[in-house]
Amino acid sequence: MSTMERPALGVLADPATLPDPYPALAALREASPFAEFDGKLVVTGRHADCSAVLRHHNASSRRNQSLLAAGAGRRARERPSFLSLDPPDHTRLRRLVSKAFTPRMIARLEPRIRAVTSELLAGAASAGELELVGQLAYPLPVRIISEMLGVPIEDHPRFAGWSARLAHSLQPGFGLDSDAAASRAEAAQVASDEFAEYFRGLIAARRARPAADLLSDLIRAEDNGEMLTEDELIATCVLLLVAGHETTVGLISNTILALLRHPDQLALIRNNPDLAADAIEETLRYDAPVQMTARVARGGMPVGDIDAPDGALVLLLLAAAGRDPEVFPDPDRFDLRRGATGHLAFAAGPHFCLGAPLARLEATTAVRAFATRLTRPELDGDSLAYKPNVNLRGPRRLVVRFGAVTAG
Ligand code: HEM
Repeated sequence: MSTMERPALGVLADPATLPDPYPALAALREASPFAEFDGKLVVTGRHADCSAVLRHHNASSRRNQSLLAAGAGRRARERPSFLSLDPPDHTRLRRLVSKAFTPRMIARLEPRIRAVTSELLAGAASAGELELVGQLAYPLPVRIISEMLGVPIEDHPRFAGWSARLAHSLQPGFGLDSDAAASRAEAAQVASDEFAEYFRGLIAARRARPAADLLSDLIRAEDNGEMLTEDELIATCVLLLVAGHETTVGLISNTILALLRHPDQLALIRNNPDLAADAIEETLRYDAPVQMTARVARGGMPVGDIDAPDGALVLLLLAAAGRDPEVFPDPDRFDLRRGATGHLAFAAGPHFCLGAPLARLEATTAVRAFATRLTRPELDGDSLAYKPNVNLRGPRRLVVRFGAVTAG
């Protein structure tokens, strides 16, 4: 343990910390692991601890009674997606959905991802300026996951708001007073109910008339003769839609922001576009879109040199682990040539992100097009504003000026 003073966890929710949480995360990692609330909460930002907990057989993802779920709303907790389930339900549901997300299935989407990227860039070409989040990083993953699921494009504006409110509720309530926590829970509750009602309608339509989309596949899905129940179907659709809305947008924006701040590295991709994939891996380590997750210690579990007691919540600061000097030398340096393998940005173990191949492909396609097709891109530093979310990290707004968009 170092002599660096440990900040309170609440500092992560301080608006002044949002633009650069990494000094605070480094101090929390240095002090890790540590316990709070009489041992009911154990926190670690060390890579080795996070990796071990994510793979530990006593690590439960049923966080529904935990601090982390406090804002999620009652019915959302009663209707958990498989993100928050343990075996055997987790194994059964994940297996059904994973058929659509294998690297081979995702690779088939590449031409469509390229076409949507081109269309979005063309939309900004004449203005000479691009609001990166609203015009590229957000609409690309939203269009792709909606098309995969079979959600009509005209419905997008309706569920964008529900998705943001649910994402907001999926973060720990650091620093919230009880009124703020209650109003966040209420907003999430309404969003969850509206989402469920929307999908009930869509599921009925697809039952009557199946289409070539993931929703119809899931309705038909049989795994050892077991179908998904209607509630499981809805929870799965909401999970995919929220994951598809709120995470990859951060990866695309955080990567492009890092490249604009390191023009030498942007130039490397311009000269060798295949390096876009390396920039994505480096950003996952350096500025993770999902900053933390948690597990419940069932029957107790070691977290480094602490024994988390039965029922304790173990908070894993994944973004701190990405800058652990024990694993990544000179960790605060953004260097796409370092070959950053072993980061935990997509977690590890049984809940390893199912959407990782899709997120990687979308982000690589967008960053490659950005680096090779925009001439003289320049960051408008004053425009940069972050989402007020301590877990799902990324800019809310980011303006880039450029000379022209060249043909792809
Ligand atoms: C850069 C983008 C993304 C990041 C950083 C990310 C990160 C993560 C992380 C850390 C987890 C594990 C959470 C935990 O177990 O506590 C996870 C799980 C998951 N992610 Fe992603 N994700 C991304 C994109 C996506 C996309 C695009 C989809 C699908 C459309 C997706 C679908 C899922 C699903 C279904 C799970 C649950 C897996 C399970 O519980 O077995 N993710 N993701």
